[in-house]
Amino acid sequence: MKILSICFAAFLCGHAALATRLYAASYAGFVTSLDLSKSNELSTLSHTTDCGSSPSWLMLDSPNSILYCLDEAIDASNGTITTLRTHPDGTLTKLAQLKTPAGPVMSAMYSAPGIPNRKFFAVAHYSGSSVSTYSVDPVLGLFKPEQTFTYQMTAPGPVASRQDAPHPHGVVVDPTGRFVLVPDLGADVVRVFHVNPLTGLLEPIEPLAVNPGSGPRHGVFWSPHGSNSTSSDVYLYLVQELSNELSGFRVTYSENGISFRKIYEGSTYGDGSSPAGSKAAEIAISPENNHIVVSNRLDNTFGPNKDSFAVFMCADASGKEAERVSFLGLYPAYGSSPRHFSIASTQTMVAVALESSQSVVVSRWDKGSGAPGTLLAEKKLDGEIPSVIWDI
Ligand SMILES: *[C@@H]1O[C@H](CO)[C@@H](O)[C@H](O)[C@H]1NC(C)=O
Ligand SMILES: *[C@@H]1O[C@H](CO)[C@@H](O)[C@H](O)[C@H]1NC(C)=O
Repeated sequence: MKILSICFAAFLCGHAALATRLYAASYAGFVTSLDLSKSNELSTLSHTTDCGSSPSWLMLDSPNSILYCLDEAIDASNGTITTLRTHPDGTLTKLAQLKTPAGPVMSAMYSAPGIPNRKFFAVAHYSGSSVSTYSVDPVLGLFKPEQTFTYQMTAPGPVASRQDAPHPHGVVVDPTGRFVLVPDLGADVVRVFHVNPLTGLLEPIEPLAVNPGSGPRHGVFWSPHGSNSTSSDVYLYLVQELSNELSGFRVTYSENGISFRKIYEGSTYGDGSSPAGSKAAEIAISPENNHIVVSNRLDNTFGPNKDSFAVFMCADASGKEAERVSFLGLYPAYGSSPRHFSIASTQTMVAVALESSQSVVVSRWDKGSGAPGTLLAEKKLDGEIPSVIWDI
């Protein structure tokens, strides 16, 4: 027993020493492979311009060594999606590329039980007011277009400068894998789709309307059962960029449907008002599965060009009356405009894409407080950084 536990600890330590690869997207047209050394130095291994002029989002299929890159192609009439093969030395080689509707900004994978050898992904197109879907051979990284949904509005929303048109901004797959949700910042709705289990095609169903002018951007599902697939005790949390709010909803499933009951709405600044110009961005569940982490952009909470993370406690699902979410506090993001972040749960670290600082930072995930902790490493890159992910 003693020997076993020593081996286990050694395995964990060995793993920690290896788990050091990151990929960052830059609006200067680069996708960069970064290495985090044991002494917490971030260095560039390689970069590629194969993803187009303004890479906005990265999605990794680590077991198949394939990186999916969205090119927002700012100001162009079409975006692109590129698949890249990842290699142990950090180089990335192009596999396939397709033109898309304008302005792809986020994607997520899902599957259809009837087509086990293929996967599917949906893409939110901000400037193109669209959602597109693709079917992919996950091993080869070769993909083809399946569907495009394009939306219109008869009049601008309350925040006319940002709500001139529908702006799908996020894609989130529910824990049962049967539904795909797309928060639409321009239209103040979350578009909801049922995944056809035989074809993988998305079937639009009743959307979830949110407060006018709130600007839903991204979302996460949470259950007290963790990542175990379940359809009971499921909650949806949304980050709303224009109102700087977190909203929580209790999820109920029916045979082919999903419905939502609001249980919480609160500022990403707790009781404080939002600093002028601030705009909430990314949302994630903590590795301990008890907190919600939201990044706040351009708030200067920790000094000039030093923005924050807001941390909330998830609903206590022990009883219906106890469905409470609470704001726990603000924690440093170590730079300006944390548009995206990735928590490496096995390594207890957070990588942050700092758009305005044009850098990537890695900070400690503090298990004690269940929040982002001390700064470990920082790397300036070329251009604004909209996304950073781990390859562990
Ligand atoms: C490229 O953009 C044009 C103009 O918006 C659009 O009609 C076309 O469908 C787009 N192409 C693809 C492959 O989505
Ligand atoms: C998830 O499922 C595994 C295997 O059934 C179980 O051991 C574990 O306790 C579950 N986790 C939670 C949080 O329910």
